[in-house]
Amino acid sequence: MKNIVILISGGGSNMAAIVRAAQREDWASRYGARICAVISNRADAKGLDIARDAGIATEVLDHKDFASRDAFDEALAALIERHAPAHQSTLVVLAGFMRILTPPFVQRYAGRLVNIHPSLLPAFTGLHTHQRALDAGCKFAGATVHQVTAELDHGQILAQAVVPILSGDSADTLAARVLTQEHQIYPRAVAQLLQTL
Ligand code: GRF
Repeated sequence: MKNIVILISGGGSNMAAIVRAAQREDWASRYGARICAVISNRADAKGLDIARDAGIATEVLDHKDFASRDAFDEALAALIERHAPAHQSTLVVLAGFMRILTPPFVQRYAGRLVNIHPSLLPAFTGLHTHQRALDAGCKFAGATVHQVTAELDHGQILAQAVVPILSGDSADTLAARVLTQEHQIYPRAVAQLLQTL
């Protein structure tokens, strides 16, 4: 069995899109894959309810309970491996997970750790991507699914979607347009990666 662990911090709409695709496309029989846990670093993440309603195991690991980034990441890996034993194939999917991961954690899951970022990377790494795209006068924006490396928002690009920036767009209207595309490309990219595990 291939295990998928999804890490979230908030609304979890990308996680929900992946859960829906896994059900609709029957990833269990098609790829021998199951979403075995959703882990949030925030207890109030709305996505936790969505995961619970879908019958997926949920966990909260609050980074504020740890003295260092290393200690948190070690506990996170242990929690992941409680749900997804290390001897099986595991894909760790960051879906709005608002934590920078340490090099040892990234190394441990190298090639099996992916993220979605709301910009057309390599443009606009980091935060406030939509406002920055508007401020720069960009005519197009989008989202990128990429392998996670130790450098923030770098790593091999696996999928991208492009949306137009329309006159009158605010960061919020642009974010909403980009998000609908995120929900399309992320499940597809995860499904493709599952076939290589
Ligand atoms: C998405 O825009 C994602 O690209 C970014 O954070 C947002 C998370 O949204 N990293 P959700 O939690 O998946 O609804």
